[in-house]
Amino acid sequence: MLGQASHQSEREYNMRKSAVMLSVTLLAMTSGMAMAGGDAAAGKVKAAACAACHGANGKSTNPMYPNLAGQHEAYLAKAIKAYKAGDRGDPTMKAMVAPLSDGDIANLAAHYAGQACK
Ligand code: HEC
Repeated sequence: MLGQASHQSEREYNMRKSAVMLSVTLLAMTSGMAMAGGDAAAGKVKAAACAACHGANGKSTNPMYPNLAGQHEAYLAKAIKAYKAGDRGDPTMKAMVAPLSDGDIANLAAHYAGQACK
């Protein structure tokens, strides 16, 4: 009788322990995802300043300006950072991205990557 009771509480303890472990793992996973990708909704707000050239939702109607819709997120972030650093020498784009933070860049990249290209 006594043996059974302690066996049960041990099982309960193990179940609680695994529930805690699971929630810790889930928390780590979701915060990891938030760090990896930008916030597309916040990027959409910032993208208002880019629409004049790159078109609504990143589909440019002017052959002078590249489409951004559907481009890879990592590439977009890299391109924006290259303009900002001067590694990619385009005076227009350098001026456009100068005020952007790393967070803004990640959010803009997430926004444009999520747009359909056709
Ligand atoms: C006044 C027009 C104009 C505005 C406004 C503008 N861009 Fe651009 N953008 C350009 C031009 C022109 C290029 C091509 C430059 C080159 O030859 O590298 C370009 C290129 C880019 C590229 C590289 C695309 C590729 O395929 O390599 C990215 C990314 C980009 N712009 C993002 C943005 C973002 C984000 C904004 C808003 C913060 C923005 N642009 C605002 C004109 C503009």
